[in-house]
Amino acid sequence: MEAMGNWTRTHSCNALNKEHVGQEVILMGWVLRRRDHGGVIFIDLRDRWGLTQVVFNPEVEPAAHAKAHQLRSEWVLAVKGQVVARPADMANSKLATGAIEIMVSELRILNSSETPPFPLDEDVEVSDVLRLQYRYLDLRRPEMAANLVMRHKAAQAIRNYLNEHDFLEIETPMLTRSTPEGARDYLVPSRVNAGKFYALPQSPQLFKQLLMIAGMDRYYQIVKCFRDEDLRADRQPEFTQIDMELSFVDEERIITLTEGMIAKLFQTTLGLDIQPPFTRISYDEAMSRFGSDRPDARFGFELVDLTKIAHGCGFQVFRTVADKGGTVRAINAKGCATLTRKELDDLTEFAAQLGAKGLAWVKMKENGEWQSPIAKFFSDEERAEIAAAMAAETGDLLFFGADQPKVVFQVLGELRIELARRLGLLKKDQFHFLWVTDFPLVEYDEKEKRFQALHHPFTAPREADEDKLERDPAGVLSRAYDLVLNGTEIGGGSIRIHQRAMQARVLNMLGIGEEEAREKFGFLLRALELGAPPHGGLAFGLDRLMMLITGSDSIRNVIAFPKTQKATCPLTDAPATVARRQLTELHLRPDWKE
Ligand code: AMO
Ligand code: AMP
Repeated sequence: MEAMGNWTRTHSCNALNKEHVGQEVILMGWVLRRRDHGGVIFIDLRDRWGLTQVVFNPEVEPAAHAKAHQLRSEWVLAVKGQVVARPADMANSKLATGAIEIMVSELRILNSSETPPFPLDEDVEVSDVLRLQYRYLDLRRPEMAANLVMRHKAAQAIRNYLNEHDFLEIETPMLTRSTPEGARDYLVPSRVNAGKFYALPQSPQLFKQLLMIAGMDRYYQIVKCFRDEDLRADRQPEFTQIDMELSFVDEERIITLTEGMIAKLFQTTLGLDIQPPFTRISYDEAMSRFGSDRPDARFGFELVDLTKIAHGCGFQVFRTVADKGGTVRAINAKGCATLTRKELDDLTEFAAQLGAKGLAWVKMKENGEWQSPIAKFFSDEERAEIAAAMAAETGDLLFFGADQPKVVFQVLGELRIELARRLGLLKKDQFHFLWVTDFPLVEYDEKEKRFQALHHPFTAPREADEDKLERDPAGVLSRAYDLVLNGTEIGGGSIRIHQRAMQARVLNMLGIGEEEAREKFGFLLRALELGAPPHGGLAFGLDRLMMLITGSDSIRNVIAFPKTQKATCPLTDAPATVARRQLTELHLRPDWKE
């Protein structure tokens, strides 16, 4: 191996073109590929910026050529040479540097590499665990590097926007008390305070409210949050929020300001002109039209309520559900009557997995004829009435759900997305934003037998509903809003409670008595007694935003060092065991087997 010596890199591997022909340059990078052609050795040299072809010609520089023979994938090189134009038939118009190559006069081999555990220059299927175990190699791949570059640009765009709007970037503690956001906490035992624990923040929610009480007026932070919950493609145990809070504002001000931020973000990252204002729909409308509080509105297949028709109808399953206070709804998969029996069986199984008791379907034939296992249960008039309600035409496919609303919404909501996925309707370059507003403040938790906050316990109820807090908790709407992009919740927030008495009433409604409240959030309650301004804010999931901006299927592709489905890190092998002595120091007595 050799040292760089006094060489200084003159250009990146993506910088040179026809204009540089004739110049002497020094490039440094990794060997992506080596090709030998009639004695001449070609190397694609790669760095974060791109690729440049470097050439070792035995006739021009025998010494460098002789050395180049040993080069293998991922060796690290410095080359000095002259920029020359490629012969016209060898030019590669897909590459920024495709018009030139470097005729090498001197090679310094800075490091060798063993054969990588997976090839970096091909689009081969590599297991996720292997990719994570060798993340530093995975990140050398241009798509992955591009994702991190994009993420950096995004963070800069957001910082610039918020700085221009008088926000202060303020850090909040990582070792703190539990902040309830609905997930389990990651706990950190205290050594100097036996038997006590810090919690890693699920979000900086309480601190940002305290910053408003402190008069900071506008706060933001691009901040790690920690939630011990079941992982999915858009969920990681530690993830990043763009967290913000403002004083003396209402929903309108916050929504307008953040729409501007999102527009700036898409302009900077994708060069796209997103046009606010975004559509707004209420939670009720989202549920009844899309069966979901995070609707993907890039396509139709909306839910239609058939409960009224079901009441008197001939199909007993529907009639019974309707009469017992359930709901009967259907979606019209336009033009999908060509689906095969096997595909319908698959979808029925899909629905069953989500808790459906069945998935009745109807293929619309000529002259309003039904091909369907349930056709026989309906009169001509009932069929016509349903077809009219569904705007059903020849060639359409109708799917029905009959059950409690919760089940029907979930089943048909997921089914419409599954259908769209199968039909290729989920276009990644189409960005459909939607604000969902007018959420209920609380929902009843059957398991816990008490009300839970839908957003978090610090969200303000709508003023008009305040008198219902004790009388009709389920009927109270909140001042919360979520921003949904293509069916993913990318952000959410609310106007907060800023009066002590109101906070106590809401906590009480959630079954948190005065004593427990004081124990858990005493510091916030006290602060609310000392001049808290009206305030509100929201937080975006940066990872989710980047997943959608880069067209990735998982947030793992936009996080440098993410965790697996089981919250492990195959690279560092975290979580790991620790020495008994460390546990003793932390006052922990393990009861697991070594
Ligand atoms: P919320 O819990 O809705 O609100 O979180 C805000 C946003 O963070 C993202 N997000 C996640 N991303 C990846 N992995 C996760 N496990 C994960 N959990 C959440 C989502 C979500 O919209 N304190 C409030 C915000 C506020 O009221 O201001 C909060 O944390 O994109
Ligand atoms: P059955 O009479 O139970 O054989 O059902 C006839 C058809 O109705 C089948 O295609 C079932 O999948 C469907 N079905 C049964 N129960 C429900 C339900 N609760 N919601 C929607 N479809 C159902």
